[in-house]
Amino acid sequence: MNEIQRVAVLTSGGDAPGMNAAIRAVVRKGIALGLDVFGVEHGFLGLIKGKMRQMNLGSVADIIHRGGTVLKTARCKEMFEPQGVAQAVQTLGESGIEALVVIGGDGSYRGAQAIQTHGIHVVAVPASIDNDIVGTERTIGFDTAVNTAVAAISKIRDTASSHERAFLIEVMGRNCGDIGLRAGLAIGAESLLIPEVPYDLDDVAEKIIRGVNRGKNHSIIIVSEGAGDIWQIADKLRSATGFDSRVTVLGHIQRGGAPTAEDAVLAAAMGSRAVEAIKRLAPGAAEPLSLMVALDCQVVVTRPLAEAFTGERVFDRELYDLAGDLSI
Ligand code: F6P
Repeated sequence: MNEIQRVAVLTSGGDAPGMNAAIRAVVRKGIALGLDVFGVEHGFLGLIKGKMRQMNLGSVADIIHRGGTVLKTARCKEMFEPQGVAQAVQTLGESGIEALVVIGGDGSYRGAQAIQTHGIHVVAVPASIDNDIVGTERTIGFDTAVNTAVAAISKIRDTASSHERAFLIEVMGRNCGDIGLRAGLAIGAESLLIPEVPYDLDDVAEKIIRGVNRGKNHSIIIVSEGAGDIWQIADKLRSATGFDSRVTVLGHIQRGGAPTAEDAVLAAAMGSRAVEAIKRLAPGAAEPLSLMVALDCQVVVTRPLAEAFTGERVFDRELYDLAGDLSI
């Protein structure tokens, strides 16, 4: 194998604020290292359909602060089929591309792993609002989503207090309660229902009643989407407390918007690290590269992609308990 010359980058799965900043880093750092960088449109779907274009310094101008992804994204079920993977690999082969940077969540990591088994070097960059990727302390987009949730919940708090109501607010995160945990702690929510910790609705109801008796004029209950059906939870709490309540599902607002400085910086560091790893690959390396970029003790590192599938995600139980202690 000679030195790598052609690299492609794609964004895949749910978009996350900071994906553009990551694309920019891959393109600009890649060009600075002497690589030819190609952008694939619509994630793995675009790879299957052969939709890619060569990127230059100008292709990524003025995108660092923009939400979404200029390369577009898609959820691609074809990548779960051998035929889809083969087509994607064929596109890369026909374009002379030897390495692929995949910016996305855990579903996208599986696509990257499948491509790697066909001899293409892959480096995955964690980008998802959910913060649910094993092996990294942070995913790009998480901090922005938490801040978006906090801003929205603050507004709801005003009306909850004026009307003396309980508000149940659903946040995203799939099976991960990190958005709920951080946003809930930041906003001083009365209860946090998240998938990682079993809960008892009688306790939640009791806490609402205790609060009312103590003169509290509202309650904010955060329900992570993986923690159960918010409408059913609301019905149960309403009948257990008799307290007027409303439900707000924050939804996709959490996926949009400009990245926070924290996310933009993380994206710059992780995107650059991905192409550096490719550039550093020794010519003639026997095995195709299979890496993920990760944040480890606040340092951006690379580690085997396989760890994303074999390791265990660390849940911050202390932070959860603290939220409980502070919301009595
Ligand atoms: O993974 C990001 C995420 O926003 C999750 O929090 C949510 O469960 C899911 O994607 C929603 O997916 P879609 O936009 O495809 O409905």
